[in-house]
Amino acid sequence: MKATAIAPSNIAFIKYWGKKDEKLRLPENGSISMNLSGLSTTCTVEFNRDGEKDEIDHERIKLHIDRVRKLAGMKDHARVDTRSNFPHSTGLSASASVFAALTLAATKAAGLDLSEKELSILARQGSGSACRSIPDGFAEWLDGNTSDTSYAVSIYPPQYWDLVDIVAVVTHTKKRVSTSEGMKGLKKSPFHKTRLSGMQEKIVSVKDALARRDFELLGIISEAEALEMHAVMITQQPALLYWTPGTLELMKAVHVWRSEGLPCFFTINTGQNIHILTLPEYVKKLEKNIQETGLAEKIIVNHPAKGAQILS
Ligand code: DP6
Repeated sequence: MKATAIAPSNIAFIKYWGKKDEKLRLPENGSISMNLSGLSTTCTVEFNRDGEKDEIDHERIKLHIDRVRKLAGMKDHARVDTRSNFPHSTGLSASASVFAALTLAATKAAGLDLSEKELSILARQGSGSACRSIPDGFAEWLDGNTSDTSYAVSIYPPQYWDLVDIVAVVTHTKKRVSTSEGMKGLKKSPFHKTRLSGMQEKIVSVKDALARRDFELLGIISEAEALEMHAVMITQQPALLYWTPGTLELMKAVHVWRSEGLPCFFTINTGQNIHILTLPEYVKKLEKNIQETGLAEKIIVNHPAKGAQILS
């Protein structure tokens, strides 16, 4: 049996950085994100009883297929093909879109018909942020203490608010330390606990900003949260420095453009590439500004998107 699914990447306003359960990928805090229309992965999974071996490129994908086989009580070999329309390992959360698409395609191909909640729980075990790419639009990853209570739900559909996320691909160079690896050293940061202590308040504020479509408030919190997460990363052992000079130049440029009256805020994940949040009427001007810096190899304009979908 064969199935193909597509899933978006997502950008977190409140981020997941730290696990309270490594194996189950239970995060230390809840998080809030938006699915991205321009960054997606298409995944085809085919199970074949007569196949001689799995045709799967990555060990982590094979482990996820094993989870699906266990759930479906089957032993068939699998062939997995994943294609993303954006660069991997550069800070654009490819694993979120890969594992969301893989989870949906693999469960369908295995004959399972899981609910959105069950899909989100399963996707989370492949890559934490993938649980937020299952539901539509703006999603909240609930801060549960067990596997069954740690999943994402849609808080608003994509059409609720046309928020724009302009991705500037600073370089296509792959990062040296993966997110999963990088997260392991965070307890050594003296700022980790401080970041967590303000988390509840931040989640409430982001929800309030979304409820009121308050761009300024959402932008201020998102940018500050990204910087707080990077403050933790920089002070971990070993220290994680994902920014390149181009990233930093663009961060400073965003501040200049904002001071000149252009509504824009940045956020950054684990990589050199940068997300710039804005509203539709400022996209053209911002694209032009980014281009003129000469710092972006590519610009990708994203609007809020649906979650994982079956294609065939
Ligand atoms: C900085 O979901 O990629 O992008 O669970 O180890 O696969 P694993 O980590 P992953 O972490 C995402 C971290 C982040 C913040 C976020 O998207 O919330």
